[in-house]
Amino acid sequence: LDNGLAMTPPMGWLTWQRFRCITDCKKYPDECISEALIHRTADKMVSEGYLAAGYDYVGIDDCWMERNRDKNGRLVPDGTRFPNGMKGIGDYLHSKGLKFFLYQDYGNATCAGYPGVLGHEKTDVESFVSWGVDYIKLDGCNVELSKMDTGYPEFGKVMNESGRPMVYSCSWPAYQDEPDYKSIMEYCNLWRNTDDIQDSWASLTSIMDWFAERPELVKYAGPGHWNDPDMLLIGNFGLSVDQAKVQMAVWSIMAAPLMMSVDLDTIRDEFKDILLNSRVIEIDQDELGKQGVRVWNKSKCEIWTREVSNGYAVAFVSRRDDGAPYTVAVTFDNIKIPAQNYLVEELFDQEESRTFSAEAGKFESRINPSGVKFYKFTPMQSNEVKITGVINRQ
Ligand code: DGJ
Repeated sequence: LDNGLAMTPPMGWLTWQRFRCITDCKKYPDECISEALIHRTADKMVSEGYLAAGYDYVGIDDCWMERNRDKNGRLVPDGTRFPNGMKGIGDYLHSKGLKFFLYQDYGNATCAGYPGVLGHEKTDVESFVSWGVDYIKLDGCNVELSKMDTGYPEFGKVMNESGRPMVYSCSWPAYQDEPDYKSIMEYCNLWRNTDDIQDSWASLTSIMDWFAERPELVKYAGPGHWNDPDMLLIGNFGLSVDQAKVQMAVWSIMAAPLMMSVDLDTIRDEFKDILLNSRVIEIDQDELGKQGVRVWNKSKCEIWTREVSNGYAVAFVSRRDDGAPYTVAVTFDNIKIPAQNYLVEELFDQEESRTFSAEAGKFESRINPSGVKFYKFTPMQSNEVKITGVINRQ
């Protein structure tokens, strides 16, 4: 969508993956969808460096509303959980330099059964504007699939006419069998393609496979319009540290939106470091906006490559579970990057930097089981290369 927004994939934090539809604040005071959760998250986004790293949206997914609209047909935030309403949330986030991301559903009801947009398009956009919303995720439950092809563009038009710049995230293709991506990229800033991600390695790898098997989707990604493989699981219960690095690396190869969904008060440092890795974020946010693909898949090891403005990002991912690091040896042809001289840096600091060129034989990478080595290949002048000599990074 050409509205000047989301020129790089949006980054931020969203409630759903970790906090779902927890509404009982008596029983689960630290986890319920509430003002308290948003405030403490916003505070941590600033104090722990997430905002500085680029994560600037804070989002409330489903389950923020009362069950019914008011007598004027307006959406009403749950009064107990959001005592200062959504305007209060918007003001708080903006006062911290953050942006406000809010969920609604295009159908008659949200997936969790709260009031949906259908028939209330104008009224709802008016509410979003008055609350200072900066980003709308429009889900696709409880509506006929055939209605989406006209409905999502129409809602986008109402958003646009409101005069308030708001990122438009559409769940439109996630519900359809044969989505019209040409139209979707024209009307939406980003769109969920697949089923929901769940907190497990199995779910993560199934989404990786889904994209790997559909390389034709990369042509729809670019500044202002992105495929969305769903939230980051990093820091929760289902992924090891190595597996969390896999998600961060592959998501940045895919030019994916980076939406964390984790308790920022209790996240362990090793996961926080992954989320805050500036060199990996730089790949995700590369200005060319070219989504990468899986270029190699053998012996349960994969290579994912993305062209970035000053070189190539290459992730060696192991899907092996046989207990020991595994060595892969490949050619430039396998990695699908031009044969030339490179400085090669591992972006999680798991290896020392090295130089590499075609004369040096095969490129070797030793990968932990269900882990990743994530390299940035930066072209060098030939006189800078000492064949395969290891060089230190400053
Ligand atoms: C389905 C979406 O895909 C999820 O990300 C989440 O928004 C839920 N609906 C909320 O009900």
